[in-house]
Amino acid sequence: MQTKIASGEIAKDKTPGAAAVGPRNLLEVRDLSVSFSGRAGEVLVVDGVSLSVRSGQTVALVGESGCGKSVTALSIMRLIPQPPGRVVSGRILFFDSTSSDKDCVVANGDAEVATDLLQLDAEAMRRIRGNRIAIVFQEPMSSLNPVFSAGDQVAEAIELHQGLSRRRAWEAAVAMLQKVGIPDPAERACDYPHQMSGGMRQRVMIAMALACQPSLLIADEPTTALDVTTQLGILNLLRGFQRESGMSVLLITHDLAVVAESADYVYVMYAGRIVEHAPVETLFANPSHPYTQALLRCVPTIHDDASSKRRLSVIPGNVPDPGDWPTGCRFHVRCSLTRDRAGTSRRATVAIGPDVALRRCVEAYDAEPSGLPHLQQIAPNHHVACWECESTQHINRVAAAAP
Ligand SMILES: Nc1ncnc2c1ncn2[C@@H]1O[C@H](COP(=O)(O)OP(=O)(O)OP(=O)(O)O)[C@@H](O)[C@H]1O
Ligand code: SF4
Ligand SMILES: [Mg+2]
Repeated sequence: MQTKIASGEIAKDKTPGAAAVGPRNLLEVRDLSVSFSGRAGEVLVVDGVSLSVRSGQTVALVGESGCGKSVTALSIMRLIPQPPGRVVSGRILFFDSTSSDKDCVVANGDAEVATDLLQLDAEAMRRIRGNRIAIVFQEPMSSLNPVFSAGDQVAEAIELHQGLSRRRAWEAAVAMLQKVGIPDPAERACDYPHQMSGGMRQRVMIAMALACQPSLLIADEPTTALDVTTQLGILNLLRGFQRESGMSVLLITHDLAVVAESADYVYVMYAGRIVEHAPVETLFANPSHPYTQALLRCVPTIHDDASSKRRLSVIPGNVPDPGDWPTGCRFHVRCSLTRDRAGTSRRATVAIGPDVALRRCVEAYDAEPSGLPHLQQIAPNHHVACWECESTQHINRVAAAAP
C-alpha cells in the first residue's frame, strides 16, 4: 500500500524522531506501539517510538536489556509473533526508489510515495523482507539451520529472492562467502554451522543478509557474542559493504564503544520509549538525558588505568518490566538527579517551586496527566525527553558533568 507524503514534511524535520541531517529518509518509524498478551493481560513493551534512518547512514539504537530494541526491529521486519504480540498503533514508512516491487516505487516533485510496511499483505512483505530489508540476529546458531550447509543456506536466500537457478545460486553463494572473508569458500560452503567458529557463523549470516543487496540492514547485536578482534572484523566488513553499496544500517546494540565507532546518528531507548536522539558527535559531547549520561559513565575509556581517578559506575537497579513501569518518568527510580536531590522519600520532599520539574518526574503532573516527559528539542537536531531538560540550569549542569 502506498502512502503519499509531502516531501517538505520530511526535509523540515517535522516528524518526531527524525534525524535531520544528510540525505533523505529511507525508513521512518512513526509512533510505534507494540504489546504482548500474557497472564497479566495485554502489556505495552514499545510505547510510541519514532525514529528515522537516512540513506547510507548507520543509525544506532541503544539501551539496556529489555528496553524494546529487538521488538522495534522485529516490528519493522513484521516478524512479531501475533499472537501474543500486537502492533497497537504506528506507521513504518519505507522509501525505497531502487525496489522493483511495484508498491515501493518512489515518486518525485513535491510528493514522495512510501510503503507503510504495516499495511502490506503477507506476500508483498515477503518480497521486501530479505530482499530490500534484511536482518542479522545476535545469535547465529539460533538463526542458521543446523541441518543445512552454510552454502545451501546462502544459496537458498539468493534463489528465493533473485530467482536464479540452483547452480547459479550456489556459485553466487560461494562468491558471497568469499566476500565476507570466509577462507576457502568453495570448501567451507559445504560445512554445517556446528563446524564453524562463532565469527564465521556470523559472517555466514551477514552473507545471507547481504546476498540480495538490501537497501536497509538491521543488525541486532551482531557482535555481542564475539571477541573484540572478531567484532572489529565484522564491523569493518559491514562498513565496507555500506561504502560499496550505499546501504543504510540500523545497528542495535548496548555497546556504546561500537556506537562511537560505527554510527552517524543515535537513538537512546529506555523502557519502551526513545529518551534522547542526536548525531553521534553531539550525543557523546553533550549527553543530556540522565540515562544517556549514566550509560556513558559505564564505558571504560583509554585513560582509565590504575592511576585514573575516574571510577566506572553502574546504573543502580534494572530496567522495569513492561507491566511495572513506574508513574511519571520511567527512569525516575534510577535517576541520579531525583536520588541526589530528594533522597528516598522523593514524594515527600519534592516541593512545588524550584523543584517543580522533579515533582513532575515522579508523579502525574497537571499539565501532563501521564507524567511522561516528551521529546523536546534542546539544541539543533538534539532531542531529549526529560522534565529537567526544560530548564537552562539543567543544561548547564549536564555540560559540567559530561564525561
Ligand atoms: N515473544 C514475547 N512475548 C512476551 N514478551 C516479550 C516477547 N518478546 C519480547 N518481550 C518483552 O518485550 C520487552 C522488550 O524486549 P526486547 O527483546 O525488545 O528487549 P531488548 O531491548 O532487545 O533487550 P536485549 O538487549 O536483552 O536484547 C521485554 O520485557 C521482553 O520480555
Ligand atoms: S524526567 Fe526527571 S527522573 Fe526522568 S530522567 Fe529527567 S530528571 Fe530524571
Ligand atoms: Mg534484543
